[in-house]
Amino acid sequence: MKPFSAIQVKLLSLLADGKYHGGNGLGLQLNVSRTAIWKHLGHFLKLGLPIERHSKLGYRLNTSTILLNENTIRQHLSQAFNPLLQVHLFETIDSTNRFLKELPASPLVEVCCAEMQTQGRGRFGRQWHSPFGVNIYCSIRWRFNCDLSELSGLGLVVSLAVHATLIHCIGDQGIQIKWPNDLLWNGKKICGSLIEMIGENNGGVDVIIGIGLNVNQQSSSSIDTPWSSLVEMTGRCFDRNILVAELLKQLHQHLELFIAQGFRCFQPDWQKVDYLKGEMINITQPTKTLSGMAMGVNVMGQLLLLDDDNRLHCLSAGDTSLKKI
Ligand code: BTN
Repeated sequence: MKPFSAIQVKLLSLLADGKYHGGNGLGLQLNVSRTAIWKHLGHFLKLGLPIERHSKLGYRLNTSTILLNENTIRQHLSQAFNPLLQVHLFETIDSTNRFLKELPASPLVEVCCAEMQTQGRGRFGRQWHSPFGVNIYCSIRWRFNCDLSELSGLGLVVSLAVHATLIHCIGDQGIQIKWPNDLLWNGKKICGSLIEMIGENNGGVDVIIGIGLNVNQQSSSSIDTPWSSLVEMTGRCFDRNILVAELLKQLHQHLELFIAQGFRCFQPDWQKVDYLKGEMINITQPTKTLSGMAMGVNVMGQLLLLDDDNRLHCLSAGDTSLKKI
């Protein structure tokens, strides 16, 4: 993946202030020719960046955008956040999860965020729509010094950490979690996570936690599943750097507690936000689909499903949906 050049990054930050800029002025500020500016703009447009052109006024990004910035993220991490972080920021990348998967092992917590993803990955091989500059596409590589079998419920804890981030940053908006990984507002998806184990070594497990959170995107563009975003929920735009910092803090706190005590201590929190409990649902697994009533989760974070023959199933994975009546 070719990163943006220093000139391209500067050009983007000039365009991100919401005002129009003429080609001449941009060239002068960046000390390059107008033709070079056009070439970079053409490249941005080809990548799908939302650049608007006005015949008299020039160019701008279509909404005023605060771009991701490592210093701002670090400034908002309190001193209580003690893991050593390596932050990788990209204007564009295929997938932040893929990047961390291929990064050589290190003792640091590796974080990768991007302004856009060209091949964002969702669960069950689905694609994660990742337009430029509006949402959070963030992956974290975390090392757990335990056995893989002790990580049951991890996905739910990650979702609870995102939920706590949103409570902290935007207040209680009645967001719920659909087992195991989807955050929903009014039944519409605002966040999903993709957790990938990279393997066990030296008595530990490395895990990639990939989080996609819809922040400043308006839902005019169409995606198959109903979705929403923080801007639609609250009517205001957010600085994604502040959200990423809070997300890292909440993840750290949640994961430390999870390692020490397992999912059991998160069960009461889960009950408060459980979207499926008491509902008739379908759950699709690679080889079968089960249906029945969702009865909450057990101490390992498994979904309890009472089927039509009154048999109770404890399920560790699957894609859930409400049954249409
Ligand atoms: C889902 O709900 O299907 C999971 C979506 C996960 C998307 C995130 S965006 C950051 C990270 N990189 C990816 O390619 N996917 C995850």
